Amino acid sequence: MTLFDVVFSGNDTVYGLTEGAINDAIAKHGADKAVSFPNTAYSLPCYYGVTGTKVATLGELKEALGVVKTLMTREKRLNDAFMSGVATALCAEFIEALKYVDGAEPYEAPCYGHLGDAVIRELGVPLVTGDIPGVAVILGAAPTAQEGVDLVKSYQAQGILVTLVGGIIDQCEELGYKTGANVRVIPLGKDVTSVIHVVSVAVRAALIFGNIQPGDAAGLMKYTFERVPAFVNAFAPLDPVIVACGAGAIALGFPVITNEETFRVPKSLIVQKDVSKFNATSLEARDIKIKITNIDIPVAFASAFEGEIIRKGDMQVEFDGSRVDCVELVTMKEMSEVEDHKIELIGPDLDEFEVGSKHSIAYVVEVAGKSMQADFEPVFERKFHSYLNCIEGVMHTGQRDMIRIRVSKDAYDAGFRAKHIGEVLYAQIKNEFEAVVDRCQVKIYTNPEDCTKVRHEIAIPIFDKRDERLASMTDEAVPVYYSCIMCQAFSPSHVCVVTPERLGLCGAVSWFDAKATHELQPNGPCQVVTKERVIDERIGEYEDVNEIVKKLSQGALEDVSLYSIMEKPMTSCGCFECICGIEPFSNGVCIANREYAGQTPLGMTFPELASMTGGGVQTPGFMGHGKHFIASKKFMKAEGGVGRIVWMPKDLKEQVRDNLNKTAKELYGIDDFVDMIGDETIATDPEELVAFLTEKGHPALGMDPMM
Ligand code: SF4
Ligand code: NI
Ligand code: NI
Repeated sequence: MTLFDVVFSGNDTVYGLTEGAINDAIAKHGADKAVSFPNTAYSLPCYYGVTGTKVATLGELKEALGVVKTLMTREKRLNDAFMSGVATALCAEFIEALKYVDGAEPYEAPCYGHLGDAVIRELGVPLVTGDIPGVAVILGAAPTAQEGVDLVKSYQAQGILVTLVGGIIDQCEELGYKTGANVRVIPLGKDVTSVIHVVSVAVRAALIFGNIQPGDAAGLMKYTFERVPAFVNAFAPLDPVIVACGAGAIALGFPVITNEETFRVPKSLIVQKDVSKFNATSLEARDIKIKITNIDIPVAFASAFEGEIIRKGDMQVEFDGSRVDCVELVTMKEMSEVEDHKIELIGPDLDEFEVGSKHSIAYVVEVAGKSMQADFEPVFERKFHSYLNCIEGVMHTGQRDMIRIRVSKDAYDAGFRAKHIGEVLYAQIKNEFEAVVDRCQVKIYTNPEDCTKVRHEIAIPIFDKRDERLASMTDEAVPVYYSCIMCQAFSPSHVCVVTPERLGLCGAVSWFDAKATHELQPNGPCQVVTKERVIDERIGEYEDVNEIVKKLSQGALEDVSLYSIMEKPMTSCGCFECICGIEPFSNGVCIANREYAGQTPLGMTFPELASMTGGGVQTPGFMGHGKHFIASKKFMKAEGGVGRIVWMPKDLKEQVRDNLNKTAKELYGIDDFVDMIGDETIATDPEELVAFLTEKGHPALGMDPMM
């Protein structure tokens, strides 16, 4: 038998099984019975991706099988073998889909079976950004359980996502090896057809992140080949069905590595008799480079430490920006001014501080690069929080000149010193932003006088300039907006449209951030949104914005306005800083921020209000938003603007006071508008609130009814 014969016979076997299974299902349930995988917007994602057709019923599934048959040509050419491989994969998808008819739950722990879109979106972002450098598909049983587990472990340690099919699952269980999506080892199922669930992930990644149009089979295969760094490890013995599936994997660009002495296809079907070399052989075949985050520090560095809390009693020293001058800053320099990897400590080191004492610190990261832009500075700077938190024994809060850092006694005893902060910032900036940073150096100041100088003379003027630039930016002044779908990991149809005057509702993504994200990662979560075809200036609705929102929400959202809470409001994912809801008695809106624990005049607390919206669904009358949006001239512009705000927690009022007063003055000529707004010390009941607003002559009372 030639390799062609094996693939064709495997394909024929699976096709026959599929045909029988579909006929049986139709006989049992009727042709109109619905069929689809659960928790996906793509029905049968592989078939949809390859053909552009969404199968909805068993009758349609049977028709689809006819389409699959047309792929099964039998010339002994490479393309025929590949297409038969694809046909085999599609048949596997059909067989697996049938398991889910009638809302059945065919898989049980530890197996996952079909992975919902939400899981993929969660995995998709790290895949797209390279945080997950590859995807291993391990099929069958290793020669021994220990060899199998060792292989799984080796990939896991490299950050590679591991999926398991067949005997390897039992081998992991046998040795008590922990599996699960949270540790990036996902047992799919014990039947060979369950391998389709990882193919489905690759296909949906192409549709979701790669902007591949369903039905563009060539584009799809090009995408998976170029961008989905997956590969297959298939343990001996291979049967024709596995070989046919393997041909499908190869068609998508995924090499197959096996320990069975079989046919060899250069770069695609590779024989490696030594299982302990599967890892190296696979990475080489798929051209996966493992980025080693080799940071020269005496303690561990891992995301596992990000949430670590260091209590007063455990801390060696503290830098507290709320008490003394502290600051963190990224600035762009000329190439000649930056010496790569120079870390300078200017001032005393941690050894010279008393245990438990508070000090000043200022660290300035200077970067240079041909493609570096000043607009990226704040984007890098915002990452410091996460970078420093990943250090074992270091806790960081805040940003800019309002930071607090604690170093634990354990970290200090292990040898952690001030310069290590520089090492971490250097390594991470270079790792993450190598596309634009050619050189990077860090200066760390610990003398109070230096810190004061850096804070007041260097950093604050830069922060002010950045803020001014941001403040002078209007939606009308820029040619494009950006979408952000970062939160689709959790909220599959949510799309933020980020404009200069309306930041993302999480408060963490400004128009500049989105722009930088887009430029650093053109296929990433932020895409350009044009706004050339106006539908309604008043509510801020555009044909082109609608088109992109519809596309990015997989059709869940048809149209969205940028400036209205009542008409086609923007959706919420769930991570909003504030929630705003209409208050009918005063004809205005109440806003509550996440930190506020009390009641609002709407009779609801923040969590209760928050539950009124989310999940990427439009809910007129309720809107999640960022704090900065409150003082925007575009806040509820369609309903009359910030003059509608009748109530906010006192703390929030103070946070937005200056900017909101300025906006109200410009829009309505009102002085000290914030003083007209109620808060919990004034009223948490609508009648008292209206009495207060009346006394103050609040503008909302005279505005048109909202409903
Ligand atoms: Fe992106 Fe923030 Fe919107 Fe989430 S909430 S999609 S992170 S802008
Ligand atoms: Ni000061
Ligand atoms: Ni979110």
